[in-house]
This record gives sequence, C-alpha cells and structure tokens, in this order.
Amino acid sequence: MMNRLNIIKPDDWHVHLREGKMLNIVSKFSTRINNRCIVMPNLTIPITNTELAKKYKSQILSSIQEESFIPLIPCYLTDNLDLKDFRDGLINGIFIGAKLYPLNSTTNSDYGVSNIEKIFPALEILEEHNKNLLIHGEKVAEIIDIFDREKYFIDDELTIIRKKFPKLNIVLEHVSSKYGADFVIENNNIAGTITPHHMLITKKDVFGENEIDPNLFCMPVVKEEKDLIALRKYACSGNSKFFLGTDSAPHPDTDKEPSKSIKPGIFSSPCSIELYAEIFEQENSLQNLEKFSSINGPKFYNLSINKDKLTLIKENWKLDKFTVNNEIKIKNFFGGEEIKWKVVLQE
Ligand code: NCD
Ligand code: ZN
Repeated sequence: MMNRLNIIKPDDWHVHLREGKMLNIVSKFSTRINNRCIVMPNLTIPITNTELAKKYKSQILSSIQEESFIPLIPCYLTDNLDLKDFRDGLINGIFIGAKLYPLNSTTNSDYGVSNIEKIFPALEILEEHNKNLLIHGEKVAEIIDIFDREKYFIDDELTIIRKKFPKLNIVLEHVSSKYGADFVIENNNIAGTITPHHMLITKKDVFGENEIDPNLFCMPVVKEEKDLIALRKYACSGNSKFFLGTDSAPHPDTDKEPSKSIKPGIFSSPCSIELYAEIFEQENSLQNLEKFSSINGPKFYNLSINKDKLTLIKENWKLDKFTVNNEIKIKNFFGGEEIKWKVVLQE
C-alpha cells in the first residue's frame, strides 16, 4: 500500500478565485498546492480585454504570498470582442486562450455568447496563434433538460466548431457526462478537465428525496452513476486528454440559501488534490495521479512541466465545515468530513 506520494507540483487548469474580499480569502487554497492556475474570467465585470486582464492579474498577485505562483487568464468571449486587442493579448501572453460561456449558462455568463457564429472571427485568431479555446459546454434552452445540456452543446454547437476549425485546440471544461468524455476521446485536438466533485457525487446527492443541497449545486450539474464511473475511468487511466481542473467556485453562504435563487458552484480548493488522491487510490491508479495533475495539462497548453514537487501522505484529518472570516462564510466541499490524504507543506 502506498502511504506517501511525491508528485510534480500540480496546476489547476480551471478555478474561480473571484475578486476583492473573496479573492483574499480563497487564493491561498489554490497557491498552497499549484504552481499555475487558469483563473476564470467570469467576474461581475468579465475580463474581456487586455486592460482588465492585466489589472486582474495584479490583483491576484497582490492577494498571495507565493512569489512563484503564475495566474493565467483566458479572455471572456462576447458577441462583440475587440479583435485587435484580443490578438495582441494572445501574442503578448496576457491571455492564455479564450473562454466560451454560452449566454446565461452559469454564474456571470450574462455577457456570454448568444450564437457561436458571433465568435468565429475570434476562433480564427485562436487557431492561427495556436491558442486554446476553453469551453463551458452546455446548451441552454427552455426545452432542454438541465441534465442534457452538455450532450446538446456537443451535438449542436461543438461539432460545428470542430468542423469549421479542425486545427483549433479545445478544452471541454469540467466534463460531466460519459457522453462528453467519450466525445473527447473520439475526436482530435480536444482535451477535457475533470473536477473532483463530478467523480464523487451524483444527482442523488444534490437533489435528494425532496430538497436540493445548495452547496452541491453546480454547473454542469453532476449526473448519474454511469457518468461518474466513466469520468473516474478516464481520469485515472492516465490518458493525456484528461487533466486537473477543480472548478472550485466559492459563493458566500448568503448566495446558497434555498429560499433564493441558488448560485451554482462548489468550493473544493481546500481539499482538492487530497480528494483527487483518494479517488485515484480507490481506482488503484495512484501511479497515474501525476500525469493527470501535473503533466497532461501543461502538454496540452504547450507549457513547461513544473520543476517543484508536492508531497502527500496517507493520514486522516478533518476539514473545517466552512471557510470563514468576519464577513464571508463559504461551505467547504467535504467540510466537516474526514479526508484521507494530507499535503505535507514543509519537509
Ligand atoms: C462557476 C461559478 O460560480 O463561477 N459555477 C459553477 O457551478 N461551476 C461557473 C462555471 O464554471 O460554470
Ligand atoms: Zn468554472
């Protein structure tokens, strides 16, 4: 039995660090274990140009202690992007790539894309500069069931993007279904990130017998057992098309009250790598954790692999139920529960 893991330091290819007070509370959970993070641009005023991206990057850097930490920011695609600024941002490394949020698909997506044709000029620029398109892959429509949004997005939109821009590298983010994961496997130039929660809970946990657990409600919503099993299988296989993206998405508990409209998002960064280790252990695949957490991602993003290492040991500990400071309270995913792996911070 393996009781100690020494892996190349991970990167998180999809995380929400937010801004202001929330940023100051949550950023340390990501920097404690990652060398780089793709920090999502869906702020209240989304990051749609280089000026906003530069400001946000410096806000993030001033919220953290670790000097070596690198925040990477994708441009939030809209129907009317300034294409010159976008191109300059890609060339100068201000943007790591671009993020497609379909309009009204998730938190702060009200500036999102109303029709994929509107972003074809931006996709052409991405393809030309060999930069990745990151996708929140859900199609939202009155007649589409919330559990089928990923499938419809793939069938109706992603296949069109795929055909029109065959060389464009795509990351289907937080893949949540067997259908989505199979699509990633079967197509070229596409990879997927997988969250811990999509490999740990199913819709039964979220929707229970008669009431929703607001803290387990996220987009894309977690699905059936068969989906969880497929995602575990692919993540743990070591296949280079899948890598770590927590989608840790903190919301204050006031935005998680069942009486109001509940904001989607699960806050997992206080125990994310620990949960991934537990999942890989359960699947007898600890030897593949490093590929998923630290190798497959940088390869797909054409970036170097980290030099530092991270150590985890097999030791039970209990995560606090909430992350709190005097103004904000956030429910931790697995908060109040026993965690089986522990990060060794200093040796
Ligand atoms: C994210 C958030 O809160 O910003 N929510 C979520 O449920 N995952 C947005 C997103 O990635 O969909
Ligand atoms: Zn997200």
